[in-house]
Amino acid sequence: MTIDNLKTPTVALGTWAWGDSGETGNGYFGSHLTPSGLEKVADKAHAAGFTLWDTAVVYGMGRSETVLGEVLKRYARSDYQLSTKFTPQAAGTGEAPVADMLEQSLARLGTDYIDLYWIHNPADVARWTPHLIPLLKSGKVRHVGVSNHKLSDIELANQILGAAGFRVEAVQNHYSLLYRSSEQAGILDYCRKRDIPFFAYMVLEQGALSGKYSPENPLPQGSDRAKHYNGLLPQLKALTDKLASIGQKQGAAAPEIATAWAIAKGTTPIIGVTKPQYIESLVRANSITLTRDDMAELESLADAADVNTRGWWEQEMSV
Ligand SMILES: NC(=O)c1ccc[n+]([C@@H]2O[C@H](COP(=O)([O-])OP(=O)(O)OC[C@H]3O[C@@H](n4cnc5c(N)ncnc54)[C@H](OP(=O)(O)O)[C@@H]3O)[C@@H](O)[C@H]2O)c1
Repeated sequence: MTIDNLKTPTVALGTWAWGDSGETGNGYFGSHLTPSGLEKVADKAHAAGFTLWDTAVVYGMGRSETVLGEVLKRYARSDYQLSTKFTPQAAGTGEAPVADMLEQSLARLGTDYIDLYWIHNPADVARWTPHLIPLLKSGKVRHVGVSNHKLSDIELANQILGAAGFRVEAVQNHYSLLYRSSEQAGILDYCRKRDIPFFAYMVLEQGALSGKYSPENPLPQGSDRAKHYNGLLPQLKALTDKLASIGQKQGAAAPEIATAWAIAKGTTPIIGVTKPQYIESLVRANSITLTRDDMAELESLADAADVNTRGWWEQEMSV
């Protein structure tokens, strides 16, 4: 049995980009990140009370976990929570591949437990979900969740965990103004009715919804996200302009409105934090109130953009 309920923050901190090499244009995000810059991110987050860090083995194949572990070293372990993932496609060939991958994550993160451990995708729900049970029993994993699972996958995982007295305690899917498939497929409703926190990832569409990137100032050339989003930027202008104009009225910027939208939808956004000032954005996003009209206008402009931002790793959510 899980000892206590998962404490869900208003927002969580994403570190996929931390897995890049740090060189401009290199890696999935292609941003220039330095250890001292990331320490400042962590200091600001700590001071602002944002304490849940999301990572995964496959973000830079261990690099994100290593960098995060280094940066968090100077805080007491009880001051922050770690969220990382088992990725089926990276499983080893031993008898207990989930336990093995967890051990590697623990070593890289410099800890002996993970607060929230995820099955990264539903590659084989019946095969991998049972492996979470001994990890929960040992206490090495405090809570478990499933990511990129559609409704029937979530139900199957819950059934498997339920037979051992556990349950799916959180769901993590792509959810943004531009990509609302989990809402359309009833997953948000499902989670709300059962008090399961829904963690929304890529709320800013990897920066494409931040308003700072445009055809004149595209995402870093050579990065994977540039390949995915640069061609879509002209179609996003009306939406990012509206995010900015709604923000202006409240002393906020476009990404803060996009984040506030996800909070207003009842989700916990996981925002990729690469610069210290993004933490201040999260503080502002937390205090913004969007009207019903704002929400409707944003959603209708998002629909009018008519883009499909589903990641290559994601499945259709519709049942
Ligand atoms: N479970 C899964 O399969 C899965 C998949 C994807 C992501 N995730 C998790 O969700 C997290 C979030 O997703 P993501 O990092 O891919 O994308 P995201 O949160 O949509 O976007 C992050 C990017 O947006 C920009 N940004 C963030 N805050 C900003 C602000 N206040 N002002 C202006 N720009 C801002 C930054 O771009 P610049 O760096 O260019 O400034 C940052 O790299 C990941 O880090 C990861 O932890 C999970």
